[in-house]
Amino acid sequence: MSKPKLFSTHVLFEEPRKKLAEHFDVEYWTGGERPSRSEFLERVAGKDALVCLLTEKIDRETLDAAGPNLRIVANVAVGFDNIDVPACTERKVVVTNTPGVLDETTADFAWTLLMAVARRLVEGDHMARSGAWTKWNLDQLCGTDVWGKTLGIIGLGRIGRAVARRAAGFRMRIIYNSTTRAPEEIEKELKAEFRTRDEVFEQADFLSLHVPLNAATRGLVGAVELARMKRSAFLINTTRGPVVQEAALIEALERGIIAGAALDVFEREPLIPDGLRRDNVVLAPHLGSASIETRTRMALIAVENAIAFFAGKRPPTVLNPEALGQS
Ligand code: GLV
Repeated sequence: MSKPKLFSTHVLFEEPRKKLAEHFDVEYWTGGERPSRSEFLERVAGKDALVCLLTEKIDRETLDAAGPNLRIVANVAVGFDNIDVPACTERKVVVTNTPGVLDETTADFAWTLLMAVARRLVEGDHMARSGAWTKWNLDQLCGTDVWGKTLGIIGLGRIGRAVARRAAGFRMRIIYNSTTRAPEEIEKELKAEFRTRDEVFEQADFLSLHVPLNAATRGLVGAVELARMKRSAFLINTTRGPVVQEAALIEALERGIIAGAALDVFEREPLIPDGLRRDNVVLAPHLGSASIETRTRMALIAVENAIAFFAGKRPPTVLNPEALGQS
């Protein structure tokens, strides 16, 4: 019996590749960094399964290009704002993501950014590396303390909680806002106080965003929210760029409305506006989950979803089970 045809827009890692080979007739994107839109649409045509990254837009045009054989889209990411899930469901295309495996790694990175911007690590690195450091000085590159400050978290889901858990060692006060309040035992464990969103913006010294991108969270941080923040506060974004109105953030940084920002995600990646290239902004190219262990696990989950589906089983992290019911 012939194997289902699968297109993966990335070569993935060795372990997931081996698994795929056992179950699918696989084509990988091997040309250059990422496929262009037209290259992607060309390669997806006639496939039964697709393994894709957050850089690929899965919309009606993609589904049309793929044709009627396409049964599953396995996204190698927890966020799935790149996928029009209702359009997939309409066409009985199952969609899966990779929840759970990247929480700790992404929380580590949120803290990496927080510490870097607070203690001016990138400026210090530039100074040390460039040879511009000629003398130690008492007031050289003084940043701000992290310990004992107030950490504000918007979105206390799995990643938000992992970020909060790490704050204990820094003896921080933790305040948060989330669409649903966390159960009492979680609040107790994390010593996290539920506050209104406005209060979190007003009181945080470090404000870290952990909401998924959707219609309700797009543009959630704009001029009004930034103006609520302390002038000494820092914004940390490791979720999705469009949660923050970038133009408003640039203006807030220019006018000293907030002290700085540390950003892993941007409105139109990989485009980074010049207004964000400032000393008080730490920039990263969407590295939140980028440890070899976690990225491998993410790829494995995507692969396991595809394998489960064609074995007639429920894919472990299916996002639209209604599409399964219809099959
Ligand atoms: C990464 O940004 C992800 O959503 O997994």
